[in-house]
Amino acid sequence: MSADTVQQRIHELRGVLKGHNYRYYVLDDPTVTDVVYDKLLRELADLEHQLGQPVPEGSPTQTVGYKPDTAFTSRKHAMPMLSLANAFSDEEISDFVRRHKTILGDDVNIAYIAEPKVDGLAINIYYEFGQMVYAATRGDGVAGEDVTDNIRSVAGIPWSLTGNVPDQFEVRGEVYMSKASFAALNQKQQDAGEKVFANPRNAAAGSLRQLDASITAKRKLSFFAYATGLGGDGFASNQNELLSQLSGQGFATQETALLADEQAMFAHYQAWMTKRPSLDYEIDGMVFKVNDFKQQKLLGAVARSPRWAIAYKFPAEEVETIVEKITWQVGRTGVITPVANMKPVNVAGVMVSRATLHNIQELARKDVRVGDKVVVRRAGDVIPEVVKSLSINVGNRAEPTPVPKQCPVCGAAVEQEEGEAAIRCTGGLSCPAQLKERVKHFVSRDGFDIEGFGSKLAEALVDKGLVKTIADVFKLDYERMATWEGMGEKKIANLKKGIENRKTIALARFIYALGIRHVGQATATSLAQHFKSLDAVQQASEEDLLEINDVGKEVAASLIHFFDEDHNKQVLEQMFDHQHQVQVLEDETPEMDSQHPLAGKTVVITGSFSNIKRNQAKILLQQLGVKVASAVSKNTDVLIAGEKAGSKLKKAEELGVEVVDEAKLLAWLA
Ligand code: IVH
Repeated sequence: MSADTVQQRIHELRGVLKGHNYRYYVLDDPTVTDVVYDKLLRELADLEHQLGQPVPEGSPTQTVGYKPDTAFTSRKHAMPMLSLANAFSDEEISDFVRRHKTILGDDVNIAYIAEPKVDGLAINIYYEFGQMVYAATRGDGVAGEDVTDNIRSVAGIPWSLTGNVPDQFEVRGEVYMSKASFAALNQKQQDAGEKVFANPRNAAAGSLRQLDASITAKRKLSFFAYATGLGGDGFASNQNELLSQLSGQGFATQETALLADEQAMFAHYQAWMTKRPSLDYEIDGMVFKVNDFKQQKLLGAVARSPRWAIAYKFPAEEVETIVEKITWQVGRTGVITPVANMKPVNVAGVMVSRATLHNIQELARKDVRVGDKVVVRRAGDVIPEVVKSLSINVGNRAEPTPVPKQCPVCGAAVEQEEGEAAIRCTGGLSCPAQLKERVKHFVSRDGFDIEGFGSKLAEALVDKGLVKTIADVFKLDYERMATWEGMGEKKIANLKKGIENRKTIALARFIYALGIRHVGQATATSLAQHFKSLDAVQQASEEDLLEINDVGKEVAASLIHFFDEDHNKQVLEQMFDHQHQVQVLEDETPEMDSQHPLAGKTVVITGSFSNIKRNQAKILLQQLGVKVASAVSKNTDVLIAGEKAGSKLKKAEELGVEVVDEAKLLAWLA
């Protein structure tokens, strides 16, 4: 390339990257994946290097983020907030380590600390004499937006510090949204017809940058501390010590490890890549830092990032591909879901060629069509999803895929109930697709939990006509199965044993395993606790059912419908006969002691507690027989409020609901 064309390309890249920065940081709505962005940024950095001229401050290679939104007050950080250089291969980590040896000396011992790289947004919190004064987003690294009010509702950030802390102290870390909160938020947004966030990071950013702090509070954000700014000198002598001190102050911190060399880093990186899907928040890589602060100082920083730290990124979770076909999948209750069939791509280490489009409304909203270029992601859970089409404004697209009028598997008519997004097959259990899913659910971990009975087996049994109802699971034709390829004697013996072991089952599990529409695990548990026996559940009237806290009209109708249907009655009878021998145990949760102060009361738990996790408290109360509801209403008798109880406390006070603290909770549980 001539110097002129290099200049031109640099100019172009700067413009493009600034646009991406704006969409990412200001609109929380990026239009390219991180991989594409990183590639462009690298290209720009390489060209700037090649040109050999001074790089202006405003170049995307020199600044981090974007200038603050004017609606928020700008806050200058006492010390600038740096960013991390990225690595994408073991070689780049080796280079990183080698640079340290070159600068510090070959014979110097360098210990590294590994921290997961949380995918959220960086925040600087400023404390004066132990009190939080303000909190600001990173912004361009020099100044960010004041989000103090919003930060106060974030879990993992103390409002005040105690003991020996610097008078002026900046603590830094990442605000993020857990996968569960993200899923719940998007569901809510979708129900309300509002914008659905592309990923937890965008959701966290969008939620933190709310001018109304009460909205932020409802979004359930969390925080991990990982650094200090002003005042950090002398507070600790290495990163490991710093993190434990911050944790002692009440900051949430992550699991870390001290590593001696690059080999240990490679292994650690691999181990966390495996662990990644099981975490309840998203991480996009591992951060390796030189542990010792004196060594960090000696190593210093270049441009926008320190030399002593690096982010070893995981393979992208979002990639681009092409939609080849849109097909329809029939689920357990007959719901028919559109599925995008795509040119296979590697998403975070797994080849993906199919992704759900959820329902016909989502399909229409995302406007995904055959031939489109789309962004695919694999969220923490393994299910791949089409994030968006990148072809919306491109001419010459295919027509939208028509909604089927007949079940693609059994040909039965398709119906859509009023007010529902889903379309369904009306074929019931005569539809093989529905039967397969029902059997899979029946034997699954939270149902009968039969070892050795996987999806493949369930499908084969239905396909070959050996399982026509869920009761058939307990009367398999093992002789015929023994003639199947890959079905050795040992496999059959194990399966037999797995089934035999589970013939006696707890009531709650049994109800759940039946796969009744709208009856999930929580409802099944409530039903079991309330009615004690299967007979009682079967005979319950709508009125009886509605007495239960989490049973509404829809659930009640679904239960009555299920137990009323002749086919279902037959299947249940069969299951309990001498050939099948299923035995359902009565529920043994004790009746609540009528002398207990909470007897007959409905409670809500909010905030965080120091001696018990909120969820644990909920389970213990439920086991006592207490009704625990999720929202405060006029039916609430008691609100148990921990630290940072937000809107629920306010509502309880407005409604005059009794409010008690952790001490009282513990007394009740004792
Ligand atoms: S240290 C001097 N540690 O990644 C370096 N950053 O790409 C300051 N991040 O701006 C950052 N987890 O938003 C550090 N354990 C971790 C991190 C982490 C996530 C974010 C942070 C930072 C960005 C850089």
